[in-house]
Amino acid sequence: MVTIEHLGKYFKGKKVFLTGHTGFKGAWMVQILSMLGAEIKGYALAPEKDGDLYNLINGNALCQSSIVHDIRDAEAVRRELVRFEPDFVFHFAAQPLVIRGYEEPLYTFEVNGQGTANVLDALKFLEKRSVAVMVTTDKVYENLDDNTLFKETDKLGGYDPYSASKAVAEIIISSYRSSFFNHEKIDVHQKSIASVRAGNVIGGGDFADNRIVPDIVRAIKKNDLVTLRNPHATRPWQHVLEPLGAYLLLATKMVDNDVKYNTSYNLGPKKMDVLTVEELTRIAIAKAGKGSYQIEENQNKLHEASNLMLDIDKAKRELGWWPKFDSRTAIEKTVEWYLDDETDATTKCQRQIQEYFEQHN
Ligand SMILES: NC(=O)c1ccc[n+]([C@@H]2O[C@H](COP(=O)([O-])OP(=O)(O)OC[C@H]3O[C@@H](n4cnc5c(N)ncnc54)[C@H](O)[C@@H]3O)[C@@H](O)[C@H]2O)c1
Repeated sequence: MVTIEHLGKYFKGKKVFLTGHTGFKGAWMVQILSMLGAEIKGYALAPEKDGDLYNLINGNALCQSSIVHDIRDAEAVRRELVRFEPDFVFHFAAQPLVIRGYEEPLYTFEVNGQGTANVLDALKFLEKRSVAVMVTTDKVYENLDDNTLFKETDKLGGYDPYSASKAVAEIIISSYRSSFFNHEKIDVHQKSIASVRAGNVIGGGDFADNRIVPDIVRAIKKNDLVTLRNPHATRPWQHVLEPLGAYLLLATKMVDNDVKYNTSYNLGPKKMDVLTVEELTRIAIAKAGKGSYQIEENQNKLHEASNLMLDIDKAKRELGWWPKFDSRTAIEKTVEWYLDDETDATTKCQRQIQEYFEQHN
């Protein structure tokens, strides 16, 4: 079981270089890492809105330093990473939205592909033992919508630019691992590199547009109808703390064994724990005690895979990682976070972080 005490043994007083620290997952990660006693250096663009989670938790006060700069600037990434001499690197920074990928494909490929290469390349110049966990997504697989349960060895692909850009990132990670961070020369380069493929996450403090749970909560709060674009699509819904707990656990395993875990891991809910968008909406409405929804009839929508399921046996077998919250709990915790206007964001997050890590699988 991943507990705060266990993680603290690896992270207390250690230096963590976290890209994308101002984003949704990044802000939760900053809070966990600061609870673990790590020194954090963040590298990302500024939070998009004043009300973003990073600002609500006063993220700048939790980081030793926060660099607001573009991940596409290879020289800056190298300078900031190498200067900090991190024990751990977590690469979260990305253009993470499918819809924006259609609108700005070139930017998406640059940030997600080149940005990933920049972080890996910077690691070549770091003369220190370091563990890097590179975040991609469950959308990296060639998805023919035929109910495949994707394994890590399945073919990479990507219909839309976002998915393809993350598949590109996976290929870049694999190439750097083979070419520059090969396990045969671990004593020379001292780098352990893994990639993690998690699915859609939900949790309090995600204020991005076009993400289903924030959309639902916004509509409930305004007494509007919730509009569902793909009511029958299934997604492996997961609380944001699940992948973050897994990334941290994986990093500890990589400290204990610097070659065994230098590979890719799927992270998602249990096989049977998959809900449709409509089911998710019903659970959220039930938890909120109000709200109703409508289904959008527009047939000219952009292509988005309807079904996406991950086989997570490798993470279970090799890392001993297994989800703690089922989809229903994840949705309920999320709705609870948003609808509690009395408590400040830091307290709400800290409370859920404690609950999560104390929970048995
Ligand atoms: N949220 C999800 O459901 C989900 C699912 C699968 C994978 N992921 C992946 O997890 C990671 C974090 O996602 P998130 O949900 O926190 O996204 P987010 O949009 O909330 O945060 C993205 C972060 O990346 C930074 N960033 C974006 N463009 C940048 C640039 N050009 N230069 C420097 N920094 C830049 C932003 O400043 C921000 O800190 C991403 O790699 C994403 O693809 C997210």
